Amino acid sequence: MKIQHFYDKDTATFTYVVSDKATKKCAIIDSVMGYDIYSGKISKAPANLVIDNITKENLKVEWILETHAHADHLTASNYIKEMLGGKIAIGENIKEVIKFWAPIFNTTKDTPLDGSQFDRLFKDQEKFFIGNLEVKVIHTPGHTPACVSYLIGDSVFVGDTIFTPRIGTARTDFPGGSAKTLYNSIQKILSLPNETKIFIGHDYPEKGKEPQFLCTVFEQKKHNILVNENVSEAQYVEVRNKRDFGKVAPKLLLPSIQVNIRAGKFGLAEENGTQYIKVPLN
Ligand SMILES: [Fe+2]
Repeated sequence: MKIQHFYDKDTATFTYVVSDKATKKCAIIDSVMGYDIYSGKISKAPANLVIDNITKENLKVEWILETHAHADHLTASNYIKEMLGGKIAIGENIKEVIKFWAPIFNTTKDTPLDGSQFDRLFKDQEKFFIGNLEVKVIHTPGHTPACVSYLIGDSVFVGDTIFTPRIGTARTDFPGGSAKTLYNSIQKILSLPNETKIFIGHDYPEKGKEPQFLCTVFEQKKHNILVNENVSEAQYVEVRNKRDFGKVAPKLLLPSIQVNIRAGKFGLAEENGTQYIKVPLN
């Protein structure tokens, strides 16, 4: 197995390419489409970096995986599928997220509530393959109801289930989020062997420092500032809820969610041929 990481500075997001050396098949985890909120301009640059690398390495895309419907960046899954092929997949609880958000955006016409815009919806503990590499899906809700982690050998791709020890964990105040649920999801990750490598969805480094994408289960249990081995569920819930209280929405929440629940599509064009990002008032 080969794992490559790509860091998008604008959204502090890690995209991973996991490939099977024997078959040259690969999966892309959590891709990024650039979006400028002021001009409405899309930038394919972050996705093109990944695409160019895949082309250079002669890999064949089998899967385009999401750990969840991100609220801080747009996915490039649909664009990558158009360019390189592959099946777009996410956890099956995405249906809950779609049912909540699509009516708010009034986009049910181009955003099927049954999740059929995704090629595959994974159940908890479901297994699939990247070439010869077996992947196990672990449902890890809490940050959102649909979050999943992908376990491949001794490596687990957790999205926003747990951040670096220095940062702690993601917020749990989005619709359907829950600190208690996230604590229990994190225990699933921390119950993996100590040497398991955790590949993280975001890092927000201090000025001048490199972002950190990797740490071990052992390091999390010892050093995570919010959820190490000495923190009980009740303690975590109290601290997490305190941190989330009154938090502002992420800058790209509304653009991201409407695109990400459409599996990366920008939705039906209006009669003038233009596609729009919608911002519902209040
Ligand atoms: Fe997230």
